[in-house]
Amino acid sequence: MSELVILKFGGSAITRKKEGVREVRKDVLDRLCWELAEAKKERGFGVVVVHGAGPFGHVPASDYGLSEGLKSERQVVGFSLTHQSMEELNAIGVDSLIRHGLNAVAYQPSALGILRKGRLSYLPTKVLIKLLGIDMVPVAYGDVLIDEVTGINILSGDHLVPYLARELHADRVILLTDVGGVFDLDPEDSKDAVLVKEITPGNIDLVCKVSASKGTDVTGGMRRKLDELIGLTQSGIESEIVSALEPGILKRALLGERGLGTLIRG
Ligand code: IPE
Repeated sequence: MSELVILKFGGSAITRKKEGVREVRKDVLDRLCWELAEAKKERGFGVVVVHGAGPFGHVPASDYGLSEGLKSERQVVGFSLTHQSMEELNAIGVDSLIRHGLNAVAYQPSALGILRKGRLSYLPTKVLIKLLGIDMVPVAYGDVLIDEVTGINILSGDHLVPYLARELHADRVILLTDVGGVFDLDPEDSKDAVLVKEITPGNIDLVCKVSASKGTDVTGGMRRKLDELIGLTQSGIESEIVSALEPGILKRALLGERGLGTLIRG
């Protein structure tokens, strides 16, 4: 198969996560899908898209305590509602990809996977390989899943991305967020904030002392994301966090340009 990219559309990039408003940033989503379609036309890679949740997932998951282990029937109601909310977001994403000429197809984690204390213990990927083989673009997402220890739990897109990268032997992993990578200070609060060009096991603790994601987040925000990506480097796969909001960055990254955001390497 040709080069394979695992691409995450972060919840902060495609929804109004910071404001806590359950709305899609349609302009951003449509532009990202357009850039992906353009780059794919030029370079001909295979791609699996994973998208995050923003308020579509984090708010109901928090309201119903879905990451606290299954203790009440109310949480089962929350499972259904949170998943359905993610389905709505997924349908909007898949629709945009299709409108931009990509053969997108939803891949529904809650119907397929099982967690063990929040980490995937089972998720079939054979169908993904077959779909990629006929130039489809599977679109998976953070979701609520059965957890064999805690009953139910949240699957974060930030866990799903490295899982798929390992299982599918991805060549590149690109994560899009609402900032241009990881900063030493919060760029919204400090004009002196400097982009951290590289994160390695050697500097991750220092970097994480200062960065945190804004808005309701039940899956651990930036620290979790970076820990997952550092873990991925042990399989020899580097990843990059780049800006979803700056036009052109995604296309350039997909066409092979490096150093556009923060590189996570071993
Ligand atoms: C969270 O997915 C999924 C749910 C809360 C149901 P992510 O953790 O990948 O979402 P974002 O990117 O932080 O919004």
